[in-house]
Amino acid sequence: VPVSWEAEVDLVVIGGGVAGLTAARTASLRGLRVLILSKGGPTDTSTQYAQGGIAVVAPLGDSVDSHVRDTVEAGAGLCEVDAVRSIVEGGQAAVAALTDLGAVFDLGRDGQISRTREGGHSTRRIIHAGGDATGAEVQRALNAAGLPVLFGAAALRVVTGTEGVQGVIAVSDNGFGVVHTPAVLLATGGLGQLYALSTNPPGATGDGVALALWAGAAVADLEFVQFHPTVLYTPGGVGRRPLISEAVRGEGAILVDSQGNSVTAGHPRGDLAPRDVVSRAIAERMRALGSDHVFLDARAVEGFAQRFPTITASCLAAGIDPVAQLIPVAPAAHYQCGGVLTDTHGRTDVAGLYAAGEVARTGLHGANRLASNSLLEGLVVGERAGAAATERVGVRARVEEIDSWTVEFAERSVVQQAMTAHASVVRDGDGLARARERIDGAVSTVSLLDSVADSPAQHLRRIEDASLTLTARALLVAAAARTESRGCHTRSESPGAVEDQRHSTAIRLLPEGTL
Ligand code: FAD
Ligand code: SIN
Repeated sequence: VPVSWEAEVDLVVIGGGVAGLTAARTASLRGLRVLILSKGGPTDTSTQYAQGGIAVVAPLGDSVDSHVRDTVEAGAGLCEVDAVRSIVEGGQAAVAALTDLGAVFDLGRDGQISRTREGGHSTRRIIHAGGDATGAEVQRALNAAGLPVLFGAAALRVVTGTEGVQGVIAVSDNGFGVVHTPAVLLATGGLGQLYALSTNPPGATGDGVALALWAGAAVADLEFVQFHPTVLYTPGGVGRRPLISEAVRGEGAILVDSQGNSVTAGHPRGDLAPRDVVSRAIAERMRALGSDHVFLDARAVEGFAQRFPTITASCLAAGIDPVAQLIPVAPAAHYQCGGVLTDTHGRTDVAGLYAAGEVARTGLHGANRLASNSLLEGLVVGERAGAAATERVGVRARVEEIDSWTVEFAERSVVQQAMTAHASVVRDGDGLARARERIDGAVSTVSLLDSVADSPAQHLRRIEDASLTLTARALLVAAAARTESRGCHTRSESPGAVEDQRHSTAIRLLPEGTL
């Protein structure tokens, strides 16, 4: 295989969002030589799009216990309480570190950091920036830290040997590259592109889950895909859709159907119930009315355009004035609650392989993530994973030989159609089996690295399609095995949770590379 570039570092971070950059900064401060690979540009991340804010225990009228309780309640029996406590406790220090880097959060009239409320939170504890542009401010502050990022470089493979991680193979505009390193952090974000409609950017193709599985690590809780209840509805098409933050409901907006009736009446927390509850209520109402959307009525929200400038711009671009009109909304794929199995320092069960941020499953989210706990997790676990990687210093790491390897992939439109039709908000066993058959029937095998004539863009497309295919299969295995309904995973044929399924199941590739 013709290798065009080579490097040797102590830590490769794959991904330039909140988790990756936070980890890289910590590792650099501890003296590690770090290289960040990012297949997109500096703002091609979910982090960039985050709206509502960061959930952090408020100094008054709040407590770690309360935040832990809300998180565990939303997680529907699958949170690991020690992990939840440990991450929640790290929130204030993580935000202080971000503020030290220059991130600026919105202040209230009293000059204190302003806090909003979102679904599942028992109090106003969510800090935000630029009204509804929290992620853009987090990303700006981290990008400005001047960390060494190779943009447009996609990781294709994590190479392991008897002592664990040995390096990474990547492709960039300059061709194939090899980075020799004893430590790799997966910070690749989510898998929203498994579905036709998602809030996620185009690069959210599940690469980290696939890279981890290929490297021999375990994943868990992939069946719990969180569908955000209120994504701006526009007829037809596929791709990224603008989000209408839960904070809009936190500031008083209400969900109504086309008849003007409340969608969530009956739940004690109404429109501010946890996200899975609201998405399910919307999906059921849409089915009952034969409609493909409901409405968010934000006309009574004071100073809407100032408080939510990003959302206002998205609505106006779609021809809707949120101050005077109802906003059409529908659920869309938003967040992977599960992922690569790690401890709360990002360690996987492969020596030298770490994961943090949305790609990781630390036990914080259980079966349904509490709103605004994701940026929190990226900051806290990112920082810890960057520190943990120091334990690999001194381990000899060398990619001696690069063999080509084959992967299976289906066209992304086939995967998206199968997953959207059969593995969305409500699923059933027959549909999940059908989705698997459709994907299995559409796969081709390709030998990555052999096709040297292909352009870097074709390699990127292929690794993304292979990642989507493997991630979809792993998700379908997990969803088929969970024959109960819990959190974000609703099986129409068995509506309740079942006590003996109140556990997570680790999934890894069989020795022959299949699931
Ligand atoms: P990302 O920020 O998605 O970064 C992933 C990085 O990995 C990118 O740089 C990408 O290019 C790179 N990458 C992927 N694969 C490869 C590869 N093979 N090789 C090289 N690079 C690769 N959470 C909250 O807590 N609060 C909110 O208000 C909030 N609002 C949200 C609004 C929207 C619209 C969305 C989409 C998400 C929101 N979330 C929110 C969730 C949160 O933003 C994400 O979970 C979080 O930002 C993920 O951060 P990350 O660092 O794990 O990944
Ligand atoms: C939102 O602003 O509604 C998104 C918050 C989140 O995904 O945590």
